[in-house]
Amino acid sequence: MREFPSTLHNTPIISNDNPDLSDMDQIACMPLDVTRPFKFDDGVIEEFLTYEDRIIEGEIQQTILWKRSEIVLHTRGKTPDDFTNTTKLTQNFYDRYKIFPLEEFNINPILSERLQEQVQHLMDYIQEELAIFPAHLTLLLSTGPVPPHTDVPHDQVSKFHNKGLEPSQIKIILNLEDYDDSLFFMKYGTWGKSLIPEIKYFEKEKHMPAETNCFAWSENFHRHGAVFEDNKTYRAIISIQGPLDKEKHKLIIENSFKKYKSNVVAFEMGNNETFVWNR
Ligand SMILES: [Fe+2]
Repeated sequence: MREFPSTLHNTPIISNDNPDLSDMDQIACMPLDVTRPFKFDDGVIEEFLTYEDRIIEGEIQQTILWKRSEIVLHTRGKTPDDFTNTTKLTQNFYDRYKIFPLEEFNINPILSERLQEQVQHLMDYIQEELAIFPAHLTLLLSTGPVPPHTDVPHDQVSKFHNKGLEPSQIKIILNLEDYDDSLFFMKYGTWGKSLIPEIKYFEKEKHMPAETNCFAWSENFHRHGAVFEDNKTYRAIISIQGPLDKEKHKLIIENSFKKYKSNVVAFEMGNNETFVWNR
């Protein structure tokens, strides 16, 4: 059975919004125009999973409130402790938009040589194809339903780091061949005890062009979440957090919009009175 996240206040309905797409802030998810999809070599994701006992745990797992495996691939730090200590990693996440000297960033040293090479391939791909510095680069594997959320910590919401650059959260979705339409996006402003959440599922047929597996998600507005089906749903996502090369990102989202306008997940925001940048 498909399991919905337990934190949902009310059962969601499928949104029938058909926005005019005059405003990029309406977009919850857009495929990105790249020259090729990213892929790890065969067996690499399985090998990453063998590090499960040495990944983020404890404090972070409790604060994020949902079951998942998350392996830090690249961040600011040097020692094995820097890549597993939850306090340090949380701080790194909070500091993801700050600029630090490049030499302070490293690939996770606890990974095998083969996996470190694979992370380097990923970093090269990000540099060639995307417009973000991977200040906090992780591989996430779903192990349960995901409550709707945005990736911005509560106390950073009002900062609007990527104002005017939405959609601005960069994700690479792996193993799309096994994906079963379980990820969803939630319309901004429909989250709350007295509201009926409006969602749209991220569907293989509609939203995933074959030539790309890179996507930009809403950072400040529409939440994302997922239902989970045990032994079936297997979702692996690379989450890239860090400062955007703003000019290059603008160009990428403009080109991507032209190419993939009919593949976006988007919601009507026009008459939503809570939708204002300068709260
Ligand atoms: Fe997320």
